[in-house]
Formats: sequence, structure tokens, C-alpha cells
Amino acid sequence: KSLKPYNTFGINVNARFFLEVNTVLQLQKALQLSAYPNYFILGGGSNMLLLKDIEDLVLHINLKGITVVEEDEDRVIVKAMAGENWHEFVQWTLKQDYGGLENLSLIPGNVGTAPIQNIGAYGVELKDSFVSCEAMHIESQELEEFFTEDCEFGYRDSVFKGKKKGKYIITAVKFKLTKHNHQLHTHYGAIEAELEKLNIVSPTIKDVSNAVINIRKSKLPDPKAIGNSGSFFKNPVISKKTFNAFIRKNKNAPYYELEDGTYKIPAGWLIEQCGFKGKRYGDAGVHSQQALVLVNHDSATGKEILDLAKKIQQCVKDNFNITIDPEVNIIK
Ligand code: EPU
Repeated sequence: KSLKPYNTFGINVNARFFLEVNTVLQLQKALQLSAYPNYFILGGGSNMLLLKDIEDLVLHINLKGITVVEEDEDRVIVKAMAGENWHEFVQWTLKQDYGGLENLSLIPGNVGTAPIQNIGAYGVELKDSFVSCEAMHIESQELEEFFTEDCEFGYRDSVFKGKKKGKYIITAVKFKLTKHNHQLHTHYGAIEAELEKLNIVSPTIKDVSNAVINIRKSKLPDPKAIGNSGSFFKNPVISKKTFNAFIRKNKNAPYYELEDGTYKIPAGWLIEQCGFKGKRYGDAGVHSQQALVLVNHDSATGKEILDLAKKIQQCVKDNFNITIDPEVNIIK
């Protein structure tokens, strides 16, 4: 079975064995009965670069459902199953006027994979409204609940990318959302400018979502039109010492100072300075509106995308002495 429709990069590799699971019980049975030592867990396929055919059993997690599990005057706890599309889930919360996820509008992928890399955008991260997630332990097929403190969330990071990697399948995620007095996060410059453009003075959560959608649409390619996995690299975080040397030579570079005294540099800027923005090598390319996004114009192979990524990493290293690491999972 071709995995092209199942990964947003649109890489055409095959799965030798493919199973879609629609209920938690099915997932449990599949893990119990299967003779496979290894599984390839497929959610929305929005954060992976596939290099070759998959020999392990591909389990496509298609668990559906959204329910309110707890509620008081001010807040609500909503549980969404792992196979729900992230953006559609965010739109559902906004329709109920539940606040907290509006800045995370239009992020590709599914609910179940969102905690793994603690998705974030426009000054908000998943962890800010996360309560817990349910995950099936692959070996014992038992469900366990992981609360915020268990998840070790960081910038595009969690325990599911670290010591629990490959051991669990997230089946559902619970979020704590506001019913009124929503805390808006519009301090991220681009949102304020966009709201101004729309002539909105006292924005609702829906307005913030619309502003985010407009900004994302103007910068990020729609995976349905051009294959991509969003930001291909993480923004590098560097020490004060490295930063001082860097900024002396690059006076106009953008940066953010972090609470612990380190500095985050937008990788998109570094890549643009290296001259890669909008470049194309066969069907592998760098997006013309946002240099952090690598694109598959039609039928690039995973290797062609990876070769381009390596070329970019080398150039950034040579020019700035800064290492940039992929954000996307490279499936070898
Ligand atoms: N920039 C350039 N050239 C470019 C792109 C960016 O010079 O081609 C510079 C500009 O100075 C710009 C700054 O980088 O002001 C920041 O750019 P942007 O606001 O687009 O954000 P980013 O740091 O490049 C991060 C996330 C995005 C997220 C946006 C908005 C990472 C790896 N990426 O990108 O997340 O949408 O902020 O919050 O942290 C994703 O993870 O897939 C993703 C799209």
C-alpha cells in the first residue's frame, strides 16, 4: 500500500502491512495478536520524512470522538481521541466558545501526535492547556494516564520523544479550556498587526483563530497543494557566549532572549541568509515564503529532501557556526 496519501510530505513509499484501528479495543487486540516485533505508528503523518518502504506493521490510529468529561462555571475539560484531525478539533472548541487552543489553529496532524512534540505557534504551546493523555503501553497493552508533570514538555519536545519513545501509543488527550474570560495571546507581533488589518479592536477567540489562519496561509504551504511537514528544523538555542560572537558579526539578525539567559535564533533567517529561500533542486525545494519549510513540489524522494536538508545544515554551520537540528522525524 502506498503511503503517499498518509504523509503530508507526499513521499511515495510503500507499507508492506497496513492496519487501520478504529477503537481502543481493536488496537489492544492488534497488539496482542500480532506477530510483529516492531510497529510503525501512523497518525496524521504531518511530521515525518519517509526514506524507504516500511517493513514493520503500520498501525494507522483512527480513533474518533470528542467529549466533555468535566465542567464547572468557568472551565471545561474536553477529551479528544487520538485520530481526530487537530485543526477540526480546534474549530470544534471554538464553536463551543471554549478558549485556549485558538493560536494553534491550522496546525496539520492529529490530536494523538500533538503532545509528542508539544506543538506550538504564535506564543502558545499545547502544554499550556494540556491536562493529561491516555496512552497504551505497547508491551502490556494496558492504558496509562500521563499528566503534565509526567510528560517533560519542552520546546518541540516531550518524554514521548525521549525515554518513552516507541513504548506507547497515545489514544486520547484531555485539555482544560476556558468558558469565558478567555486569556488572549495576541502579543506575538504578527497577530496584532493582522487584527488591526481586519479592523478588530476587542477580539474574540474566533478572531484570534482567524488572524492565525490568515498568517499561516500567507507563509506556510498547504500540504494538499505542495507536500511539506511545516518547519523542517527547530530554531537553534545558543549560549550567551555563542550569541555575543554571532550578533557582533550579524547586527541585524532577529533573536529572542529566553528566561534562562540563552538565545533562540530563527532558523528561517539563517537559511535565508545562506541563499536557499525559494530554491529548487529537482522536486525538492525550500518554500519561497518561509525558508524553514522544505517542500516536495511533486515527486521528490525522501532522500532528495534529506540531501537538501544536509546541504542547508552544512551551509548554516559554515557561515554562522550554528548547528540546526531537524524538527521532523526522519524515518530511516
Ligand atoms: N525569517 C526570515 N526568513 C524566513 C523565515 C523567517 O528571515 O524565510 C525570520 C524573520 O525575522 C521572522 C522570524 O524569522 O520574523 C520568525 O519567523 P516566523 O514568525 O515565521 O516563525 P519561525 O520561528 O520561523 C516558528 C515555528 C512555527 C510557528 C511559528 C509561529 C519552529 C521550528 N517553528 O517558526 O511552527 O508556526 O514560529 O509561531 O519553532 C512548525 O513547527 O511546523 C511550525 C510551522
